Amino acid sequence: MPLPVPVLPEGVDPAWLPPAAFRAVGGRRTLIRGSGPLAETVHGEVAEACLRFGGRVVRDTEPEGVAHDLVLDLGGADDPELLGEEGFTCAREGGTTTVTAIGGRGLLYGLFHVVRLGEAAFTGERARETHHPALALRMLDHWDNVAAHPVMGQVERGYAGGSLFWEDGRARRDLERVRAYGRLLAACGINALAVNNVNVHETEAHLLTDRIGEVAAIADVLRPYGVRTHLSVSFAAPVVLGGLPTADPLDETVRGWWAKATGAVYEAIPDFGGYVVKADSEGQPGPFAYGRSHADGANLLAAALEPYGGTVHWRAFVYDHCQDWRDRTTDRARAAYDHFVPLDGAFAADAVLQVKHGPIDFQVREPVSPLIGAMPGTRLAVELQVTQEYTGQQRHVCWLGPMWSEVLRFRHRPESSVGDLARGGLIAVSNAGDDPFWTGHPLAQANLYTFGRLAWRPDADPGGILDEWIRLTFGPGPEAAGLHAVLDGSWRTYEKYTAPLGVGFMVQPGHHYGPSVDGYEYSPWGTYHFADRDGIGVDRSVATGTGYAGQYAKPWAELYESPDTCPDELLLFFHHVSYGHTLHSGKTVIQHIYDTHFEGVEEVEEAREAWDSLAGLVDPVRHARVAERYEEQLRCAREWRDQINSYFLRKSGVPDERGRRIY
Ligand code: GCU
Repeated sequence: MPLPVPVLPEGVDPAWLPPAAFRAVGGRRTLIRGSGPLAETVHGEVAEACLRFGGRVVRDTEPEGVAHDLVLDLGGADDPELLGEEGFTCAREGGTTTVTAIGGRGLLYGLFHVVRLGEAAFTGERARETHHPALALRMLDHWDNVAAHPVMGQVERGYAGGSLFWEDGRARRDLERVRAYGRLLAACGINALAVNNVNVHETEAHLLTDRIGEVAAIADVLRPYGVRTHLSVSFAAPVVLGGLPTADPLDETVRGWWAKATGAVYEAIPDFGGYVVKADSEGQPGPFAYGRSHADGANLLAAALEPYGGTVHWRAFVYDHCQDWRDRTTDRARAAYDHFVPLDGAFAADAVLQVKHGPIDFQVREPVSPLIGAMPGTRLAVELQVTQEYTGQQRHVCWLGPMWSEVLRFRHRPESSVGDLARGGLIAVSNAGDDPFWTGHPLAQANLYTFGRLAWRPDADPGGILDEWIRLTFGPGPEAAGLHAVLDGSWRTYEKYTAPLGVGFMVQPGHHYGPSVDGYEYSPWGTYHFADRDGIGVDRSVATGTGYAGQYAKPWAELYESPDTCPDELLLFFHHVSYGHTLHSGKTVIQHIYDTHFEGVEEVEEAREAWDSLAGLVDPVRHARVAERYEEQLRCAREWRDQINSYFLRKSGVPDERGRRIY
């Protein structure tokens, strides 16, 4: 039976799958071959489109002589090894477009490929192309709590309303919207998600055992879209849930407890993906309490998952969050490398080390984590943050495609890029919630879509992905150029009006929205800028600083070591320099700060005007929501500009060359 397409609740935005996106497919004659649950999903999609646009879909065979515009052929591919479960081929010959796949997911991804092509899929001839994902795991971590947390709310660092999965302290009874979410994710290539926060609070700890049925209900609706379900678990589960006196990873009773608990998980969810663990990090329990290593901890869970083919994603976000700001030798940026590089080779095959892309915490500009280039004997996953914790919290337009692309193309050594090294997958903290636009800011949908497509092909051109998203979401109309302009430079604009030259933070403590230059300066969190009357920045050189620059392979270690060769955009991340220091751009640091902060605000003003000019061309509800957010973005950008410029004028006493108003 074809699976009906999910029905969106009244008022919920269709995001990148509006009915019109299926016009080209829906107006044609399609033949679907093959069987299995995902073939039913594909059939349901095409049937719905045909109902709307007058086409026709048949299954398996038809009388001789009937021509098809589109053949979706599951099992018909002749190179199974190359295609795998998720790949597909696409060709057009003699008036028929043919997609072949070996696995159900491949067929579904092939259909969405045709949807993306639109009319072009049915025009002229197309040489046979083979598509398959570069990374097997393309996953979202939802930082969702079942119960609202008193400080963080329901979704930690969530800017899009409440959780899609959890409501009133339990899994939603009506999971139709979760089904629709799975569909959106499949259409951009995402194939896994973790349904709860990495900070596992007491209620959420129980999802692993007595509340696994709720997780299973969510897994059931995601499965037909090829999305596997994972769970964040507490390392202390044997104590908290099992009543054992210890969670020591080498203790036999502890190992037995995990084996049994994991067996029960697989009974409820046979295709369960595995566990996500934040251990010994920001107060979460971990193996250090027992004098054991993180490899011991990860391998304990890997052993429990191994019989079922599951994976543990063990996060490398381990650092001292109670450091003394007076102590300049402790450098948070060094922490992940220092903790984990000595363990290279010690992790089990089913353990994946999940590394944030930068050494600190998802700032608007950070160098690529040196750890990613230093663990050849370990399966690594790279973690991005789609939720805009430090990049405007979905009140500001900040399309992160260019930043992620820079990260994924970065090469610690010539032979492999970060995209190549992410053998354990690309993972991102989701930005979606139960907001009618899914992401709060309607244009933040572009970030979620871009993440999925970059996880499929880390070397893809992000600008091309942006255009794809615009075409699907808004149609092929004249507004496309305006939309592209509004989003394309938005990350650099955001960078201009916030913390300068890679120094990071300067945000309001706790919620991290809006400026507070010294907000974290005398805190225990290890995120300092060290500005004084003469200069600013963190000396992370080997010669005179914390030595962090030495964690890189050559040539990066040398390049970052000296302020003369360090790229401007990272100068204050690596060096403490005087305000009069001349950048490669020819400007002094202080003048750069002033100029970028004025420019950043001007760019927001221009973007807002560009958006205003699209009124009447885009859906009015969407237009109004974005317009409203631009007001806030502009207010906040001005606040950033004025606080940062005033702070540095007062510290340095150096006036703006151009005599602009600084307070
Ligand atoms: C950041 C974020 C936290 C989150 C943490 C993590 O520090 O502010 O809310 O828990 O990252 O990634 O674990």
